[in-house]
Amino acid sequence: MTGYVDVHSHLVFGVDDGARSLEESLRLLTEARDTGTRLVFATPHVVPPYHNWNASQGRIARIRRNFAAIVEQAPAGIEVRLGFEITARPQRLRSDDDIHRFRLTGTEFVLMDGPQAVPWVGDSTMERYARRIRAEGLTPILAHPERRACWRGAHDLGFAERMKAAGALLQIDASGLTGADGPGCDVEARRLLTEGLVDLIGSDGHGGKSPVRLDVAHTMAAEVVGEAAATRMVDGSILSL
Ligand SMILES: [Fe+2]
Repeated sequence: MTGYVDVHSHLVFGVDDGARSLEESLRLLTEARDTGTRLVFATPHVVPPYHNWNASQGRIARIRRNFAAIVEQAPAGIEVRLGFEITARPQRLRSDDDIHRFRLTGTEFVLMDGPQAVPWVGDSTMERYARRIRAEGLTPILAHPERRACWRGAHDLGFAERMKAAGALLQIDASGLTGADGPGCDVEARRLLTEGLVDLIGSDGHGGKSPVRLDVAHTMAAEVVGEAAATRMVDGSILSL
């Protein structure tokens, strides 16, 4: 293989709970390159409402501005493209909400933020949003389904299977598999791997203790599903890249 493709990271500085400065963004990119990644999608959270971040129209413009600053100074040997991590909420289901603007650049895929405890168990917003993305001719990628089964108070067993049935690809986090996200997430991540439900592994790197790297998780996944299947989860082939 010729390098990893990481579909999920928070390396755009100053727009969410990821990188906080241009210097940190560049450091994360260098770390990704040095651990074998050739292409990384920067996927800031998209509100409303998500924590206290500004939900106004200006937010997307700010993301694009900061992203452009990163591209200008990006280290050699790694490509960075813009995407988004969309939080499914009722307003996202409105037919006038343009989903195509949220694609991972150069692909027909949209990254959806996998829920922890919200929406609450029994709420079908996530499944409906996945179906809406499908209806637009795009493919949803659901981030970190393993959290839904292991997060405090959530224990929504069967969530991953329901999202798969709704047409979503499943992307586990490298940090979920390695155990960095806490006890329980790694158990569920392994279960999803063992049952053949995982399509992709993403770093979901935020900086700090959350690295933008796939190499360790790739090795761990290979121990569960074999080298060839694990490589397909990290080499971009599923995105036709
Ligand atoms: Fe994320």
